[in-house]
Amino acid sequence: MTTSPYRIVPLHCRPWTLNGISPRLIESHYEHVYGGAIRRLNALDADLSALDARSAKLRDMARLRQEQADLVNTTLLHELYFASLGGDGRALPEIIAGAIARDFGSDLRWRDEFIALTAALEGTSGWVLLTYVPRDRRLINHVVTAALPGIAGGAPILALDMYEHAYAMEYGHNATAYVAAFMRNIDWRAVEARYQDAIAMRPPRALEQPEFGDLPSIAPEELLAKLRSGEKLQVIDARPRHYSAKAQDMVAGAVWRDPERIDEWIETLSKDEPVVTFCVYGFHIGCQVAIALRQAGFDARYMTGGHFAWKAIKGPVQPFE
Ligand SMILES: [Fe+2]
Repeated sequence: MTTSPYRIVPLHCRPWTLNGISPRLIESHYEHVYGGAIRRLNALDADLSALDARSAKLRDMARLRQEQADLVNTTLLHELYFASLGGDGRALPEIIAGAIARDFGSDLRWRDEFIALTAALEGTSGWVLLTYVPRDRRLINHVVTAALPGIAGGAPILALDMYEHAYAMEYGHNATAYVAAFMRNIDWRAVEARYQDAIAMRPPRALEQPEFGDLPSIAPEELLAKLRSGEKLQVIDARPRHYSAKAQDMVAGAVWRDPERIDEWIETLSKDEPVVTFCVYGFHIGCQVAIALRQAGFDARYMTGGHFAWKAIKGPVQPFE
């Protein structure tokens, strides 16, 4: 017999220390809702192992996997909820206070927004979360419901359970009073510790092109900002001739130059202004042109993502000439 893969996590908060949330409420929540989800997960795991992937109806398999994903999420969020409680909800430690001020303006604004999200649930059950998103290197407040999934790759660091089972026993329909009690019990030290773990997570890997080494690049947003600020730049559209033949538009202010004929047009460039080159998607040609120009002594870089990244940020374009 194999052991069950999902283990109950001990309560993180000390229920008798909570202010306005009784041990009875926490015990019932922990035993029945959280414990029930762990038990169901293990039963489901056994069902899934027993299914023969070849003969099982795909619909059965899909239903079980969906339920499994839902329960994994539920158990993780309940563990986070219990670990969000146990403090006095007051002074935020320095690091998390700084992060919240950076991403929300102030802890007061963060608080107002977080509470507003609970009100916006309006009768729907769900979670209100504070989540760190490694890709963006910032925190975000958001709601998770059956219809609104969590944030891919995000690390939630604070969770408020807005299902009735979390408060009805004590607060009836008065969710507002329950939310106020939750805020009074936030364990900010624990939130800060989770924030520090979250910022140590790596963001999703960027496109790697080792063949171009550390060739300098510029993001399309950065180029747009530089052009808007009036910075003098020479922007070279180096899309291949066969491609440009059917092109309809181009980056506003750029000039098209045939990447196969650098020798013919390099003399027209000035060494006094930086050069930005790009091709269709930002892979090879724009990089190769930038390398050739750098070798000739120009301050050249390529624009990541190429023409289509520019289009995707709705950078200004002009008809192709
Ligand atoms: Fe719950």
